[in-house]
Amino acid sequence: MSDIRDQRDTRNQYGAQGLHRKDLQAAPLDLFGEWLNTASDNNLYDYTAMTLATADIDGQPAARIVLLKHFDELGFCWYTDRNSHKGQQLNANPQAALLFFWPQLHRQIRIEGAVELLSDAESDAYFDSRPASSKLSAAVSLQSQVVPNRQAMVDAVDNMRSELGEREAARPSRWGGYRLRPNAIEFWQGRDDRLHDRFRYQRDGDTWNIERLCP
Ligand SMILES: Cc1cc2nc3c(=O)[nH]c(=O)nc-3n(C[C@H](O)[C@H](O)[C@H](O)COP(=O)(O)O)c2cc1C
Repeated sequence: MSDIRDQRDTRNQYGAQGLHRKDLQAAPLDLFGEWLNTASDNNLYDYTAMTLATADIDGQPAARIVLLKHFDELGFCWYTDRNSHKGQQLNANPQAALLFFWPQLHRQIRIEGAVELLSDAESDAYFDSRPASSKLSAAVSLQSQVVPNRQAMVDAVDNMRSELGEREAARPSRWGGYRLRPNAIEFWQGRDDRLHDRFRYQRDGDTWNIERLCP
């Protein structure tokens, strides 16, 4: 390897904008919504992208980005191939963590909880809203399986397109949504000199306990 750069002196300062107890809403989903709207208002590229961390029953973790598609008081939802690596891990161990990082806002949100499948009706509704080309790709891509080369995928798309004619690809039964029901959500706001603000909400029955954590 030729151009290996040393990153030990790569560091940033974080803004003076703090997160104070008085800013906190009783329900973390309300604060999450406020922060998501701020990310949207700032036109951050892919601000709905979140890291999804899963683990198999032996404790081996895996992490990848998925897109948040909707959330409500029940939890956070995304869509994927349920036979994929993540789908297999979630099937064996339906616990996961989500992470948002919006560097331009010096903000991170960490979420943990149990994961459940969305209904067929919910998966159909979202699948139907996707562009026809994305439906085709989902129909031919057996996500996380080995494929010999790109051309094999392009050919599979072309074949299915000619089979379908004017019709659009139907949702494969292996493709659908998940919801993570949070039991802990932490909001991190970067501050000067590494003295960041962290507040963790933990579910306590129908309410949430809020604690400030050391950075
Ligand atoms: C910006 C971005 C958005 C992505 N959105 C999704 C998504 O919503 N659903 C999905 O299944 N994969 C998405 N991916 C691809 C995943 O990161 C991953 O490659 C794929 O889901 C296979 O992961 P797995 O083998 O661990 O199951 C996205 C990747 C990026 C970089």
